[in-house]
Amino acid sequence: MAELLTAKAVLSWRQAMLGQGGESSALDWLLDLKGGLRWQQLQALRLYPESEIALEQDLGTLEQIWRQHLEQAIPLQYLVGRCPWRDIELEVAPGVLIPRQETEVLVDLALDCAKGDQLGSAPRWADLGTGSGCIAIALAKGLPNAQGFAVDRSAEALRQAERNARAILGSACLDFREGDWWDAIRDQWGQLDLVVSNPPYIPAAVWAQLEPVVREHEPELALNGGSDGLEALRTIAGGAALGLAPGGWLLLEHHYDQSKAVLELLEAAGLVNVQAHKDLEGVQRFAKAQRPLQPEQNRP
Ligand SMILES: C[S@@+](CC[C@H](N)C(=O)[O-])C[C@H]1O[C@@H](n2cnc3c(N)ncnc32)[C@H](O)[C@@H]1O
Repeated sequence: MAELLTAKAVLSWRQAMLGQGGESSALDWLLDLKGGLRWQQLQALRLYPESEIALEQDLGTLEQIWRQHLEQAIPLQYLVGRCPWRDIELEVAPGVLIPRQETEVLVDLALDCAKGDQLGSAPRWADLGTGSGCIAIALAKGLPNAQGFAVDRSAEALRQAERNARAILGSACLDFREGDWWDAIRDQWGQLDLVVSNPPYIPAAVWAQLEPVVREHEPELALNGGSDGLEALRTIAGGAALGLAPGGWLLLEHHYDQSKAVLELLEAAGLVNVQAHKDLEGVQRFAKAQRPLQPEQNRP
């Protein structure tokens, strides 16, 4: 409900909330997403403390959310039910991973592979482990002439991805498949020009030590990659030589210290042009590789 407030009242409420704990960036995110107070408007309030502003939610409701976040370590994205990502806004709920900023780079790398008709005029692609559908929706937007498949073993995640796709893309343009990695798209094997995946890759022992805000609220299926963190990456890399079309690309996100291991998995799978890519902080967090066009291309 809109509430007309003075700048002074908003700023002193903000100070009081920060006094309870938490990060100012998180509180400002809440003010923006739930209160409708954009960052520039917040700066203007500081300059003009006598001005008035109408928030989209009353401060009592915002305070309730903030306290729940602090006291129960629930991610704000789940409490607000939304998460901006790239140029879209996704609905998110417990049971579905909150999309991370670094994964935006994976989409850019994937779209680069498809630049200038490199994959043909009507490529086929798949997003393995789609979660909220963030990658699949971004690829569908970037590759409007392509046929896309979004796979997840979690029925809850897949339903969320479908709802997000319908809200953002409109009528059905993605094929949603519930099941295991490559198995869920067995009928497409050998025809996929681009396969992208941000699978669970956190080693089990590291997962067990994650902050409660992640470990206790985000789905373990989305994060826990088994004893060495590579279980899903091994399966996905291992299936690529059969699943991809000749010349097709596989792009993977992985943990900060898995680059060498993932590149070895891709080479062992018979893929070529194996490359590591960095995230926005300069850490090698992505790998890409291609199925050889001819079997000979792969021989030493
Ligand atoms: C790290 S999350 C990525 C979600 C989303 N793509 C993103 O980037 O935010 C991994 C996803 O893989 C799914 N997943 C886990 N095991 C799977 C399996 N065996 N087959 C298919 N999907 C699986 C999880 O349910 C989860 O949605």
